[in-house]
Amino acid sequence: MYPDRVVSGMRPTGALHLGHYHGALKNWIRVQAEHPCLFFVADWHALTTHYDDPGIVERSTWDMVVDWLAAGIDPSQATIFIQSKVPEHAELHLLLSMATPLGWLERVPSYKDQIDNLAHKDLATYGFLGYPLLQAADVLIYRASMVPVGEDQLPHVEMMREVARRFNHIYGKEKGFEEKAIAAVKKLGSKRAKLYLELRTAYHQEGEVDALEQARAMLDDAGSLSNIDRERLFGYLEGSRRIILAEPQALLTQSSRLPGLDGRKMSKSYGNAIALREERDSVVKKIRTMPTDPARVRRTDPGDPKRCPVWQLHEVYSDGATRDWVVKGCTSAGIGCIECKQPVIDGVLAEQEPMHERAQPYLDDPTLVRAIVADGCDKARRLAQETMRDVREAMGLAYT
Ligand code: TRP
Ligand code: SF4
Repeated sequence: MYPDRVVSGMRPTGALHLGHYHGALKNWIRVQAEHPCLFFVADWHALTTHYDDPGIVERSTWDMVVDWLAAGIDPSQATIFIQSKVPEHAELHLLLSMATPLGWLERVPSYKDQIDNLAHKDLATYGFLGYPLLQAADVLIYRASMVPVGEDQLPHVEMMREVARRFNHIYGKEKGFEEKAIAAVKKLGSKRAKLYLELRTAYHQEGEVDALEQARAMLDDAGSLSNIDRERLFGYLEGSRRIILAEPQALLTQSSRLPGLDGRKMSKSYGNAIALREERDSVVKKIRTMPTDPARVRRTDPGDPKRCPVWQLHEVYSDGATRDWVVKGCTSAGIGCIECKQPVIDGVLAEQEPMHERAQPYLDDPTLVRAIVADGCDKARRLAQETMRDVREAMGLAYT
């Protein structure tokens, strides 16, 4: 119903590492070529956990945008902006909070997990409880159709859908809706109108989901409709309400979880990460000194790649022939660990080289980054304002 649009955000809580690249950014780069995308720095979300250390949020915000550009996010394709520069997100968050049951927030699995994980911090705050609702506002305000996220975020996307549904249910009521919807059906032209009503009946009476999809696709193509009539017809398909906020879908990152230098998930807090734009020498040193199969004490001891974190990196960075060479050489003690690590070092450096190159102009002239973000904030804000007009009107806040 609403335009094809992809929205995703990342929290600026430190420099990005290669785990972010493999886990999320590669996915963003792929979708930016296929759909209109909005990517934003979720600085308010960062403050929900870093409220006592805002300096890191401010510093990381700009570095993160440079990391995105370095990784290949293309500002001529995607809109890049900062959450707090589009204050409409906060307004929608507030308005959504009116009708969001506390239980929905308390039930989100990450809520209790994070409170336990970050036990050294007091997260029994109002802001932290509202985290997933703010995230819902981030996406619903653009009426996004898709949200590229990792698996851990699926409950958040599910909650966004519930919030949108509830909003439409409560505020999509309209006096004389039925009559207005029928008038809009007529505007489809007789052939389409007939098909629309048939599909609607098939869905209502037989529960045919295909019919619903087909009718939606038809409405998408019906160029002559005004937005409000289109909303009504979407709502009328399903029941008797306007659809003011669209339900987004998760676009799951094909999980390529990059292991860190110790074999656990790469994470800054584990101290096992390689930064996205880490200095060459430091990359070489980190990989040379990373642990290997603990059973391989001497060069003459055979090893087992399955017990070695270096092997996990070969699985990401090396081709089949190299991997065969590793397995043979390791299990027969035919190669040494330093030798074994070289293709991984080469692979990581080759991946990072174009990133350093792309970052350089932005490091030389930071005003370029400021300009990209300023432009993105303007674009995002215009879109957010459109939705907020409808939201305020639906909630009786238009005061005209
Ligand atoms: N919660 C997300 C994360 O931790 C970040 C985020 C904030 C986000 N707002 C969003 C992701 C909106 C997608 C859409 O990764
Ligand atoms: Fe690990 Fe390679 Fe050493 Fe085997 S040879 S233990 S796979 S680093």
